[in-house]
Amino acid sequence: MAMACRALLILAAVLLLCAAECHLVHAWKRSYVVYLGAHPYGREATAEDHARATESHHELLASVVGSKQAAKDAIFYSYNKNINGFAAYLEEEVATQMAKHPDVLTVMPSKMMKLHTTRSWGFMDMERDGQVLPDSIWNHGKFGQNVIIANLDSGIWPESNSFSDEGMAPVPKRWKGGCTDTAKYGVPCNKKLIGAKYFNKDMLLSHPAAVEHNWTRDTEGHGTHTLSTAAGRFVPRANLFGYANGTAKGGAPRARVAVYKVCWNGECATADVIAGFEAAVHDGADVISVSFGVDAPLADASSFFHEAVTLGSLHATIHGVAVVCSGGNSGPFEDTVVNSAPWVTTVAASTVDRDFPDQVTLGNNAKMRGISLEASDLHSNKLFPVINASSAALPNCTVHHATNCATGCLDPAKVKGKIVVCVRGGDIPRVMKGMTVLNAGGVGMILANGEMDGNDIEADPHVLPATMITYDEAVSLYNYMSSTSEPAANISPSKTELGVKNSPSIAAFSARGPSGTLPYVLKPDVAAPGVDILAAFTEYVSPTEVAADKRRSEYAIMSGTSMACPHVSGVTALLKAARPDWSPAMMRSAIMTTARTQDNTGKPMREMDGKEATPFAYGSGNVHPNRAVDPGLVYDITPNGYFTFLCSLGFSTKDLSRLSSGKFTCPAKPPPMEDLNYPSIVVPALRRRMTIRRRLKNVGRPGTYRASWRAPFGVNMTVDPTVLIFEKAGEEKEFKVKVASEKEKLGRGYVFGKIVWSDGTHYVRSPVVVNALD
Ligand SMILES: *[C@@H]1O[C@H](CO)[C@@H](O)[C@H](O)[C@H]1NC(C)=O
Ligand SMILES: *[C@@H]1O[C@H](CO)[C@@H](O)[C@H](O)[C@H]1NC(C)=O
Ligand SMILES: *[C@@H]1O[C@H](CO)[C@@H](O)[C@H](O)[C@H]1NC(C)=O
Ligand SMILES: *[C@@H]1O[C@H](CO)[C@@H](O)[C@H](O)[C@H]1NC(C)=O
Ligand SMILES: *[C@@H]1O[C@H](CO)[C@@H](O)[C@H](O)[C@H]1NC(C)=O
Repeated sequence: MAMACRALLILAAVLLLCAAECHLVHAWKRSYVVYLGAHPYGREATAEDHARATESHHELLASVVGSKQAAKDAIFYSYNKNINGFAAYLEEEVATQMAKHPDVLTVMPSKMMKLHTTRSWGFMDMERDGQVLPDSIWNHGKFGQNVIIANLDSGIWPESNSFSDEGMAPVPKRWKGGCTDTAKYGVPCNKKLIGAKYFNKDMLLSHPAAVEHNWTRDTEGHGTHTLSTAAGRFVPRANLFGYANGTAKGGAPRARVAVYKVCWNGECATADVIAGFEAAVHDGADVISVSFGVDAPLADASSFFHEAVTLGSLHATIHGVAVVCSGGNSGPFEDTVVNSAPWVTTVAASTVDRDFPDQVTLGNNAKMRGISLEASDLHSNKLFPVINASSAALPNCTVHHATNCATGCLDPAKVKGKIVVCVRGGDIPRVMKGMTVLNAGGVGMILANGEMDGNDIEADPHVLPATMITYDEAVSLYNYMSSTSEPAANISPSKTELGVKNSPSIAAFSARGPSGTLPYVLKPDVAAPGVDILAAFTEYVSPTEVAADKRRSEYAIMSGTSMACPHVSGVTALLKAARPDWSPAMMRSAIMTTARTQDNTGKPMREMDGKEATPFAYGSGNVHPNRAVDPGLVYDITPNGYFTFLCSLGFSTKDLSRLSSGKFTCPAKPPPMEDLNYPSIVVPALRRRMTIRRRLKNVGRPGTYRASWRAPFGVNMTVDPTVLIFEKAGEEKEFKVKVASEKEKLGRGYVFGKIVWSDGTHYVRSPVVVNALD
């Protein structure tokens, strides 16, 4: 009975929805990308070639919608440069028919992707990147000179000193891009910032309210922050309200940058993202940096061509452009990593050895450690009464809202002159909670993690004396508060602490493997600094901004895999400058095989909560840029290598001939997926035994390399041969890795080992991850 009732209610709800929708729109239309593969031509194609491709798109759609004019009206992007396809506003029925057309590879409905920052409030969340890249790779890579980094993101604040072109040479001749944003306050080019374009046709159809202005300018700060991390000039005395004061340095400060604004108000729509990829590749970018992604991993690899970053990055890779992506912020849970295609470098977020600690002193003299970016003093040692926000709820708010310090929910009569304990979450930005307390007359705030938040805390630039504490600390605080009738506390000013031990560690929010989409490839690939990163920011203040916090700083501290990704984009640009003939896969291999798995105490890298981290958290390790320029050996993958891998995954010769202009045929018997020549090894379902093949290419001097390895627990692993002799640069040698499960030690889930090839100078390290089933 109860069940039936509920079913009826749901039905009623659906009918209501339909009534509203059906009334408003006659035929339900939405944006789709119709994907056809690759064009047979490259960047050398003429305007006529492009026009012919567009014409063919019109004809193709006309074959379904009936008229050329109707097709023209529906198509809002014709991808005619490297990605072959178009974006159109279609009825579902038409999209379904289109998908059946023999020329069509896939038809994907537009989806929203999200920026990978752990936002709290505008510029709020927050570190820097300074000493991460010591001078040697900067010298080898000439600081990235003449390399072009494209950032697909929320735009740029061009006036930032990080993008000054002072002393820069003329723009490389091969560059075809430019600044096409002619809006009032549009973004102008200089010799540093050599491209600025925006793409929002899909957003205007799918979510028009997200477009506040038609321009390339960054209104959120995310794009300015990520790009200045990848390639900002050295700007001395950068800081946020005095914190993290020092020289702000991008990874490749002399690299040129090009901005493709495809994200609007935190969201990025499929067809705009594909347009951004196509433009960046055509314009001549060497590295594309992408700090956003879909919310959840793709169900499986058969949906690879239904997702914009996967598809756009494949085309980039085919054209020799390296793509670096953030892995997402849905950690610490397993199978959360996104942007996990084998042709991109997927980046996890680690901490740096800097912290912003302060101290809470309780009335019983107990002390607890918090973190904050707020330095103002709560009047020396005086203690202030402490109350739970929940006990100061206004009658027009739920206790839940008050507990979370939602705006306008605290009773000034109860809060005045007190330190208020607010609980994290409830979708209220952390800095806003402080503002609620301040507005109600509170003198300070203790922001407490809930049980689910654990011990992962973040330093924010609060508007009043405030600190953030872990869940464990919060429990002791509550115990103290209920133990006395007059609980009291003081919060000390926080300071910038350097050389913090057990760093790097992996941020709790950083998304983890194994990749459910593609368990045969270890993802993320590497970790890079992504917690409390100081970089340039937007100075835009929206006229509609409701919040009272109008503080602006030219620099801001933010956290997220969004911030980790551009560190690796910067390093990739330096590698490109130092080794211009390396393929994207070679650059990634160099970065991966030289990464470190130990922290600054010489112990294995940990999770932020102290547990030992695994390669599912950091991939091959934390980037160590200096060594990447001279890795000794690399694992290369050509476009045909990726095509072969796609055959192994089940894509057909017919599918792949569209990607390769008919030049590629699947092997009769495709190799196992584990044989993709990747710099790491995962066997996701080992039954008894398996042999995996890899090929190493010498990129250094002639030399004799010997293998050493540590087998994953319960796995018998051998390497054959164990010695590889390279007589010249560019020479390639194969080896096999045999893994066999040891019966008595089965059922442990994933286990971790490694292989290291060394000539005594270089150490070419690969993680080996095995899940033995029987
Ligand atoms: C942006 O451009 C579109 C299409 O030209 C237009 O419909 C929209 O009103 C513009 N938005 C703003 C905020 O100017
Ligand atoms: C930052 O450091 C520089 C030099 O080290 C100093 O001159 C400047 O006053 C500092 N700025 C702040 C806000 O502390
Ligand atoms: C609750 O009421 C107070 C004044 O009575 C008001 O200032 C506040 O904005 C209200 N809060 C909300 C969430 O509406
Ligand atoms: C304060 O709030 C916390 C979290 O909501 C709760 O666990 C605790 O019991 C409260 N303490 C008092 C003294 O109200
Ligand atoms: C491990 O494998 C090798 C060759 O595959 C074999 O010779 C050796 O006996 C195996 N060791 C164990 C402990 O099973």
